[in-house]
Amino acid sequence: MRRRNGVGIAVVVLLGLGPIHVAVSGQANPEAGKKVYAASCQNCHGPTGKGDSEMAAYLAPPPADLTAKSTQTKPDAQLRKIIMEGRSGTAMTGYAASLSEAQIDDLLAYIRSLKP
Ligand code: HEC
Repeated sequence: MRRRNGVGIAVVVLLGLGPIHVAVSGQANPEAGKKVYAASCQNCHGPTGKGDSEMAAYLAPPPADLTAKSTQTKPDAQLRKIIMEGRSGTAMTGYAASLSEAQIDDLLAYIRSLKP
């Protein structure tokens, strides 16, 4: 009886550690996302994501304020789709061909870190 309990605890500990390891190794990096943002998005969305770029005056509709509640409340999957496919009828083009999935993960992590 005693021995069985010991094995049971060992199995629980191993199963418990598995997902933590996966989460850490697959984690998006907001610092890397910031670099991608500076290179590809800042021109329009502005240095702090508020849509306050010089370009904004020339675009209709203007670039979205990524810090706004209307953006931040959209689920990751929806933001990812917009970043990959763009939004028709606006200056927002799709980045599926120029950015990797990992870069888009990093970008999403950076966008989530933006404060209004
Ligand atoms: C040429 C200017 C331009 C560039 C560059 C640009 N965007 Fe946009 N973005 C826009 C415009 C315009 C919209 C649409 C605003 C609207 O629909 O009112 C938009 C919309 C978005 C939205 C949707 C926001 C929402 O709440 O619906 C996201 C997310 C976004 N952009 C992220 C990015 C990211 C990330 C990059 C860089 C990879 C990027 N954009 C590059 C102009 C740009």
